[in-house]
Amino acid sequence: MKMLPEPFKIKVVEKIQLTPRTERENLIRKAGFNVFNLPAEKVYIDLLTDSGTSAMSDNQWAGIMLGDESYARSRNFIHFEATIQKITGFKHVIPTHQGRAAENILFSTLVKKGDIVPNNIHFDTTRANVVHNGGKPLDLVIQEGLNPESEHPFKGNMDVQKLKKTVEEAGADRIPVVMMTVTNNSGGGQPVSMENVRRVSDVLKVHKIPFFLDACRFAENCYFIQQRESGYRHKTIAEIARELFSYADGCTMSAKKDALVNIGGFLALNDDSLTQKLKDRLILTEGFPTYGGLAGRDLEAIARGLEEGLDEDYLRFRIGQVRYLGELLIEAGVPILKPPGGHAIYIDAKQFAPHISQSQFPGQALIVALYREAGIRAVEIGSLMFARKDPDTGETVYPDLELVRLAIPRRVYTNLHIEYVAEAVINLYKNRDRLKGLRLTYEAPALRHFTARLEEVA
Ligand code: F0G
Repeated sequence: MKMLPEPFKIKVVEKIQLTPRTERENLIRKAGFNVFNLPAEKVYIDLLTDSGTSAMSDNQWAGIMLGDESYARSRNFIHFEATIQKITGFKHVIPTHQGRAAENILFSTLVKKGDIVPNNIHFDTTRANVVHNGGKPLDLVIQEGLNPESEHPFKGNMDVQKLKKTVEEAGADRIPVVMMTVTNNSGGGQPVSMENVRRVSDVLKVHKIPFFLDACRFAENCYFIQQRESGYRHKTIAEIARELFSYADGCTMSAKKDALVNIGGFLALNDDSLTQKLKDRLILTEGFPTYGGLAGRDLEAIARGLEEGLDEDYLRFRIGQVRYLGELLIEAGVPILKPPGGHAIYIDAKQFAPHISQSQFPGQALIVALYREAGIRAVEIGSLMFARKDPDTGETVYPDLELVRLAIPRRVYTNLHIEYVAEAVINLYKNRDRLKGLRLTYEAPALRHFTARLEEVA
């Protein structure tokens, strides 16, 4: 047998429906060619994100019924805190309503105007939160991480030489924190090796620069370490995670990913005085430090989901399902970012539609076609998300990678759904000459991809 079946059986189902082609055509026009504006019920297979879209288990739903909605120190907070302390080894745990709230609280406390915040590659909300606080986000991923063809096993790694150079040139006092995104979402869901995390940590310790993991997908990253890095084959995912976190001073986490819940996040860290500052800020915007904008039941679902996310049978299925989609596409010659990432397959839109220039959003053109042809919703991680005007020259700077992400929600779709998606993408690839470029008719000053409106170029 090529692949073991899903390691769960289905207790509750949710109906999905493919709307007729003519209706999809009307809807995508009405949405300004931006799939964020589509009614979710009009999407057949929703691969917009793996964030907050997981199916919770019977065990998590049972936990929901045990929600203790006391304002302070509910029993669910105590379970939540103990679980995160056990998994990460960090002393302090601060709940937030999602990942970007954790980022906002951390960066608004640490980052001053003119500061530099390195990362392997910043995710869009991380980048925006650094910029919002007057900082300059810097992406220091290794060269292989920008090459869609490279089969490097840890394409999320940070270039340690570049990091050293940045610290020497800028000076440690202008770098309030260094982040590392595991797995590296904006670079294709690619993992970071334990060795790389250790080496980055060594550099930062010398200069006393705080080191934080953007840990949304830490369990998936740890599975890759177990499978690919020598010395980790016989370690459990929990053991690997504990070692990974041991090299960092703290983490931000969107629990909407590897904690298998629909909402939630946290900060975890060791530093007592920084914790106090973060909690003070948290009370202003998120809530009392033992609930941080979440209900007691949410904290319980996160605590239970974090444990389930470390289960090896689950991770084998999870990473295997994403790889299966990747293999079907590679077999048909569709250009995807290799090797397949942990939570998504990324189509290389520059290669898929070379007749559309980056200024006309080739990735978005492919996304529009996927919805039109098959009712599938995906997300662009390319020019629409990242192109920006250089403040000095006024010229538009385009990102190196022009990607379409097919993000796979956790425990939601079966392998038959995956095959349907593969078939749709392959059909589009055969007719790729028909894809049309787009131009913007509205853009917001920050995070424009969420609300942009576009029209097709004749
Ligand atoms: N960091 C990374 C690496 C992420 O992928 C995300 C979210 C966040 C931080 C922010 O977390 O959404 O809970 O506020 N990524 C989602 C995605 C939105 O679709 O990749 P959040």
